[in-house]
Amino acid sequence: MSATIIDGKLISAQIKDELKEKTAALKEKGVEVTLAVILVGEDPASQVYVRNKKKACEYVGFRSFSFELPETTSQADLLKLIDELNNRKDVDGILVQMPLPSHIDEKAVIDAIDPSKDVDGFHPMNVGALCIGEKGFVSCTPAGVIELLKRGCDGKIEIAGKECVIVGRSNIVGKPMSLLMLRENATVTVAHSKTKDLAQVCKRADILIAAVGKAGMITKDFVKEGAVVIDVGINRNADGKLCGDVLFDEVSEIAGAITPVPGGVGPMTIAMLMNNCYEAAVRKL
Ligand code: GUN
Repeated sequence: MSATIIDGKLISAQIKDELKEKTAALKEKGVEVTLAVILVGEDPASQVYVRNKKKACEYVGFRSFSFELPETTSQADLLKLIDELNNRKDVDGILVQMPLPSHIDEKAVIDAIDPSKDVDGFHPMNVGALCIGEKGFVSCTPAGVIELLKRGCDGKIEIAGKECVIVGRSNIVGKPMSLLMLRENATVTVAHSKTKDLAQVCKRADILIAAVGKAGMITKDFVKEGAVVIDVGINRNADGKLCGDVLFDEVSEIAGAITPVPGGVGPMTIAMLMNNCYEAAVRKL
């Protein structure tokens, strides 16, 4: 194996430790950072995510208010709770764990969150701010990828002027990722399921970011020698083992640097959520 491993566990721990110090300093001034977390229903994966988010809050020194609502909660009741939290001065960030039960319109819920408390960065105001280069909250996973690129490999990865190919165009990852890489002055291509000659397009990349959700679809034939490969995928293979979109064993033979799954992008998402909560509290001051 020749690729340098970009250790998301380590980098996310550094970010959380930095936030822990800054949060303690805010506390000295009487400011408590507070995240409200809403979970509707009992999806096991969502329960794990929410538990991890609450644990991270505890670690960095934030308060977290948890609202665990039954699957049968009406959209009206959920919107009413969001409205109350929007108006509470002691709540800095609001997170509604997705996916929501099918009788609730996710877009209506996202739109209802006060953009200044939208620590997920999903509200159209925040997406629009990112698009035109204004201050706002950025979706946590793509923001985490930028931190991995900036802090990984001892800060030696250059982004400006590099060819970046992003595979996937979701609202949460692919699209904001493309805007962030553009902001960093990369030359950006967004590839997706209809892209012709996907392997050839990916092979152009100095920085390849895979966010498709298909286990092991990025093989060595998609990767230029020495490229930086960021794997956003979290999938289970046939044996039930957690794996990314990138076939790690063979791609790490030719890549210059690579993120593992687990332990790459995954831990960064929560670290960036904590960063957004801290920012939400500070911007209010
Ligand atoms: N479900 C899966 N990922 C996310 C996320 O980043 N935020 C929220 N709110 N729900 C999710």
